[in-house]
Amino acid sequence: MANILCIGAGYVGGPTMVVIAKHCPQHRVVVVDTNAERIAAWQSDRLPIYEPGLDEAVRVARGRNLFFSTDVNRHIAEADIIFVSVNTGTKTFGQGAGKAADLQFWEKSARQILEHSTTSKIVVEKSTLPVRTAEAMEYILNARGTQGVHFDIISNPEFLAEGSAIGDLERPDRVLIGGRDTPSGRQAVQTMMDIYANWVPAERILTTNLWSSELSKLTANAFLAQRISSINAISALCERTEADVAEVAHAIGMDSRIGSRFLQASVGFGGSCFRKDILNLVYLCEHYNLPEVAAYWEQVIKMNDYQQSRFVSNMVSAMFNTVAGKRIALFGAAFKANTGDTRESPALEICRELLAEHAAVVLTDPHALENARVDLGDAAKRVTFEPDPYAAARDAHAIAILTEWRQFAELDYEAIFKDMIKPAFIFDGRNILNHRRLHELGFNVYAVGKAPLTHFGTSNSGSGI
Ligand SMILES: NC(=O)c1ccc[n+]([C@@H]2O[C@H](COP(=O)([O-])OP(=O)(O)OC[C@H]3O[C@@H](n4cnc5c(N)ncnc54)[C@H](O)[C@@H]3O)[C@@H](O)[C@H]2O)c1
Repeated sequence: MANILCIGAGYVGGPTMVVIAKHCPQHRVVVVDTNAERIAAWQSDRLPIYEPGLDEAVRVARGRNLFFSTDVNRHIAEADIIFVSVNTGTKTFGQGAGKAADLQFWEKSARQILEHSTTSKIVVEKSTLPVRTAEAMEYILNARGTQGVHFDIISNPEFLAEGSAIGDLERPDRVLIGGRDTPSGRQAVQTMMDIYANWVPAERILTTNLWSSELSKLTANAFLAQRISSINAISALCERTEADVAEVAHAIGMDSRIGSRFLQASVGFGGSCFRKDILNLVYLCEHYNLPEVAAYWEQVIKMNDYQQSRFVSNMVSAMFNTVAGKRIALFGAAFKANTGDTRESPALEICRELLAEHAAVVLTDPHALENARVDLGDAAKRVTFEPDPYAAARDAHAIAILTEWRQFAELDYEAIFKDMIKPAFIFDGRNILNHRRLHELGFNVYAVGKAPLTHFGTSNSGSGI
């Protein structure tokens, strides 16, 4: 039996430990966080994050071998293995501001571990970190000299995607474990492998050196985001040429070298990770004097920003070059379906840009309105939050689909159309609706990477999204 601790009860720490505890009843798993409200929510029936399957998984293990606490120091002292899953956002100050990873929470955790440890421990990097962070961690943790206490650092990045976190954790494509090639390093890697072996097939557990493991996480996110920016770049060309981006994606996706996933044109990627991890990669490349490599990856972000501002420009130009005072219903605040997370959500960026155009914005989302209100900050005062999409669309000039919630595809658009100001516009930023049918109902339909379907003459039909 091992005492497993996770510092950070967020979108990663929480679900990851829930699944470890579920499959390892022989181990005691404690998740700690300095945010008392978050811990209280993990202890309650109203969990702090929305994730399909999470409630059920929590019910299996909580109170049995899974515990949540704010007493960080006590649990550090008791732990054999400490996962650190704290936030590692982009630095907003000082050197590297706007690009480098902000490692203050990570380093604070390391120092806290050092201060409260009286026995040797394995410290696991679960947070996404710049390559070679483990070197600094080893230095800090082993700075006190041995005194009978030794720390082995393991890199074990998390590849779950929000919205499918529990399925991803239950059936991971792979688990990556990076460690030192020393006797205690190899032992630490083996201990980690033994934990995951409780439910993950052996062939899906990969071991590498520390630096490959750290860099693989940044690289995975950069490649995933690059695919989205690549298909979005093609969507812009489709709109000018009457090619259909869905047809192009399908045609290229059938090539087994390319593959069909992550080829959905949209308003772009969001979430807390892609942007910050690519910026971190760009910063690392600049640091190692590789400006061409940095510029290559930076373009992935520029294309994503372009896709969002292009979406708003096309809305404005389609609606006779002004949206000032017009009610616009934004369907979706979450950065993707099946999560309540609105961090870096394209929906919120589009919301801000429409507010700058003086539109009267109404935001609806089945699970993300509370987070949207917080993340919008001051701008929230000028937004109407409306849980019912039918009410949001009533008396609106336009609807924009910004999150691919299945519910939005299943609404009664005939009823919605009747209650809207005419001419009524629909901008499908996720390409989830039946555009031909909407056009037949009377909507002017603009989808990403497709020719618009309008009821105007050619003068207003060529802008596209
Ligand atoms: N969100 C994702 O989909 C995802 C996926 C893979 C990897 N990651 C990475 O995992 C890490 C965590 O991401 P997240 O989305 O869970 O972040 P999060 O902000 O939801 O959670 C981090 C938590 O750590 C807590 N914390 C910070 N410092 C602390 C300290 N010293 N002691 C105790 N608690 C502390 C915060 O209060 C917060 O609740 C990041 O490095 C991220 O890049 C995230």
